[in-house]
Amino acid sequence: MGVKYNIAREKLIVALDFSTWEDAEKMVKSLPEVSLFKVGLELYLASSGLAVRRLRELGKEVFLDLKFHDIPNTVAQACRQAAREGAFIFNVHASGGREMMRQAVLSAQEEAEKHELKKPLLLAVTVLTSLDDQDLSEIGLVGTKESVGRLAVLAKEAGIDGVVASPQEIKLIRELCGNDFKIVCPGVRPHWAGLGDQKRVLTPGEAVSAGADFLVIGRPITKAKSPNEAALKIMEEIEEVKA
Ligand code: C5P
Repeated sequence: MGVKYNIAREKLIVALDFSTWEDAEKMVKSLPEVSLFKVGLELYLASSGLAVRRLRELGKEVFLDLKFHDIPNTVAQACRQAAREGAFIFNVHASGGREMMRQAVLSAQEEAEKHELKKPLLLAVTVLTSLDDQDLSEIGLVGTKESVGRLAVLAKEAGIDGVVASPQEIKLIRELCGNDFKIVCPGVRPHWAGLGDQKRVLTPGEAVSAGADFLVIGRPITKAKSPNEAALKIMEEIEEVKA
């Protein structure tokens, strides 16, 4: 592995949206320069929970995207398990409330210390980007922008490290939560890739320039004719912005 992609290697997270561990493993092995991978509900269940450990054995870091949302004690115990498995990033729903997030933070920290693991980054999901103002009003909530802002601030106050957010929300979150608060962005599309079902997108370069700390990119890489070439092109674009 060269030193060429030092910055991009710490920013690009490839989403492993696969229905078997074997397919996911093939993809991981074809992307030698990528060091961060996202495991969501599909692969986590398909691998009977083993995907995190397997990725760690392959020398990779894991964003475990299971979006915990339950009573504080239950979420705290789930966070302990995620930290013990060695997930580098994992997440909870901010709408679970202040106490749930506080307990999540404490238990993740405690567990990582106990097992002498790097402190994981604990993120909050504010408002799912699949919901619009109309959807929120139906469940009695204020508009998306205000909800995102309120939930991001609450998450920060509870000790959460950052949020998952659409690239369009970066500016608002930076204003409210400052530069140290981590922002992880899906909805990123290189100009040479199709949009798929993503609607409001930025290119990798635009998202990094706008202040995203991490980019979650799936299909533009995993469905490309050459996934490795696609990943390297994206990594080059990230390096150029940071140069
Ligand atoms: O294939 P694609 O690049 O669209 O994958 C993006 C990944 O980020 C998927 O795993 C998707 O579930 C996730 N995601 C998203 N939009 C959000 C939150 C998560 O696309 N708002």
